[in-house]
Amino acid sequence: MIENLKDFIDEVEKFKADSKEKVEELRLKFLSRKGILTEIFNEFKSVAPAEKREYGQRINALKQLVEKKISEAQAGFEEKASKPNDLDITLPGPNYTIGSHHPITNVLNEIIEIFSRLGFTVAEGQEIEDDYHNFTALNFAPEHPARDMQDTFFIETDPDILLRTHTSGGQVRVMEKQQPPIRVLVPGRVFRNEAVSARSHCIFHQVEGLYVDKNVSFADLKQTLMYFAKEFYGEKTEIRLRPSYFPFTEPSAEMDVSCSICGGKGCGICKNTGWLEVLGCGMVHPNVLRNCGIDPEVYSGFAFGMGIERTAMLRYGVTDIRMFFENDMKFLSRFKI
Ligand code: PHE
Repeated sequence: MIENLKDFIDEVEKFKADSKEKVEELRLKFLSRKGILTEIFNEFKSVAPAEKREYGQRINALKQLVEKKISEAQAGFEEKASKPNDLDITLPGPNYTIGSHHPITNVLNEIIEIFSRLGFTVAEGQEIEDDYHNFTALNFAPEHPARDMQDTFFIETDPDILLRTHTSGGQVRVMEKQQPPIRVLVPGRVFRNEAVSARSHCIFHQVEGLYVDKNVSFADLKQTLMYFAKEFYGEKTEIRLRPSYFPFTEPSAEMDVSCSICGGKGCGICKNTGWLEVLGCGMVHPNVLRNCGIDPEVYSGFAFGMGIERTAMLRYGVTDIRMFFENDMKFLSRFKI
């Protein structure tokens, strides 16, 4: 066989790689264990020493030639495969579905829109807060039990840094920077170390309102909230303010609105009371104004804060807060507007 080396070289040189099968045939014929090259190598052992050199070179040339042919052919096949030769440019393009805002975004935007008619603008607070802005400046004394009203996530390495438990820290940041008149909304995400259930979540959203000027009174607060309630929950909505407690407001109140689902007659959503609790509010405590460099002898103000998930639940009759966080397309597509 070794005498035919030249013929083999010719044969391989002429080889045309027109199919994968042919290339495989070539590989088997020359390179497999029982192939021609194995045989030639065996015969090579008995070649006379004087001729070894010449034969050796030719055998190697054949082997390299076969390998080169095969790898060139394979590269050619791969290139062909990556070319979309069956592209039909007359077919219609893919159908893109248009997304929509999350219901929480929609509710927040609506709240902002209503208050913007009263001259409120929007300020951003910050989600990672320090103890001072979340508690101390808001008149929570260091060991004050009211700190326990909100279970806090602290940053392990620095107990002074925490995830804000409410947007009220945003009030402080605005007042530190700006003298009255102030009319601002602070929306954002808040965090509480609470067990997740149908009624509460460890992450939710609030929107804070703050109004500070000369002669701001509780009547202004009530009027502002009544306007909001009628705009948001409907013309016939009534409000009710119940005394409450927050360290940063005095007096403090909680606002209920007449149940928009049953019109005040009593139903499952309002637990047969006819009323829905919607927000906390009050007159900004003089200590808070003072902490922010605003003179409480000259200025007064009111603040309020509401949970956006809760507001959205009441608005849409959603009974499980967790639905807002699950990104379930079926649920979310209900709120496309
Ligand atoms: N920050 C209070 C809360 O999270 C709500 C609130 C805001 C109450 C502003 C009064 C004034 O419960």
